[in-house]
Amino acid sequence: MQNCSSLAADKGRLRAGKDSPEVRMLISANARANPAAGNGECARSSCSVTTTIDPDFCMGCGLCVQVCPARTISMQDGKAVVTGTYSMGCGHCEAICPVDAIRVEALEHPFTLSAAEVDDRWLPHGEHDTGQLVRLMRSRRSCRNYKDREVDRMVLEDLVKIGTTAPSGTNSQLWTFTILDSRKEVIILGEQVARFFHKLNRMAEKTWLRFFLKMFAGDALGKYYRRYYESIREGLLLWDRKGVDTLFHGAVAAILVGGRKSASSPMEDGLLASQNILLAAHSYGLGSCMIGFAVEAIKRDRQIQTILQIPEGESVYAVIALGYPAEKYKKAALRRKIVPRYPSLLKKS
Ligand SMILES: Cc1cc2nc3c(=O)[nH]c(=O)nc-3n(C[C@H](O)[C@H](O)[C@H](O)COP(=O)(O)O)c2cc1C
Ligand code: SF4
Repeated sequence: MQNCSSLAADKGRLRAGKDSPEVRMLISANARANPAAGNGECARSSCSVTTTIDPDFCMGCGLCVQVCPARTISMQDGKAVVTGTYSMGCGHCEAICPVDAIRVEALEHPFTLSAAEVDDRWLPHGEHDTGQLVRLMRSRRSCRNYKDREVDRMVLEDLVKIGTTAPSGTNSQLWTFTILDSRKEVIILGEQVARFFHKLNRMAEKTWLRFFLKMFAGDALGKYYRRYYESIREGLLLWDRKGVDTLFHGAVAAILVGGRKSASSPMEDGLLASQNILLAAHSYGLGSCMIGFAVEAIKRDRQIQTILQIPEGESVYAVIALGYPAEKYKKAALRRKIVPRYPSLLKKS
């Protein structure tokens, strides 16, 4: 999001000119909410409003007011005006305005991808082919066989961009994406994860330590020992002795999806973005696989965070292995039967 000073500079770009009422309102709202704004300092409430409305274009339909979740816009004398000092920057107003009178400067214009053609046309509810959507969803499988073919950086960046079309709590978009774009880098991360699990397994195989920790700090190490110790030991042996990659399955790239811990729901945001990336990867001809073991190692090992240049205050919530798939399925995924519950909320007790 741009800062307050660039917001002030943006007034020159407005179609209505720098003296238009909405520009004055925008700037004065910022100044009121944050006297430091002119010094280049930012406070959330002031910097958040980057919405501009051209009064010459506005025809007063009120649609933008109707969809604005933060009440940033209101109607005055038959025209929409920015009156709030807080905006979620969701862009609903800009997307609904029938005459293109609104622009939310904080958003990246235009939305483009390098490896696919996209346009801004909104798809009305019910108009997408659900069968095709579900086919894509069911055809995405966790890929554990990859070709020895690198993935272009532009494609990986497209995936990140597509990831950010996911919803995020209070539209904070405080997610972060770290790209490893070569097999060599994936191996470096793999070796670090292996080092972490070697250490963990050495701890877990000590009966006295599991017992001691259970007495004083809970049974987490015991649970790890019962559930994962043996399979991890086997995986590490295969890696160390034969170079068999049971962690990343030979993937040639990875996207680490993280978030600032200060966000309202960083993990949920990161995982929603991840699902978008998984689906888009399939559509781009790539195989993908979430690697939970790598997430655990990164979360608990500061040395790995340092190597990956993950700053303080950030956490990694998903590691997505990627590459061109060396496997083809005949049929789409099946799942276990699920029976939803209907609680009897309307029955009197
Ligand atoms: C949070 C999470 C972590 C996962 N971690 C791993 C992993 O470390 N290694 C792996 O091979 N697969 C991992 N998977 C993939 C699951 O095993 C896979 O999604 C599941 O078996 C269903 O298969 P499908 O993805 O092909 O539909 C993970 C999946 C999720 C959602
Ligand atoms: S949606 Fe556009 S035309 Fe309608 S009130 Fe808002 S700014 Fe004016």
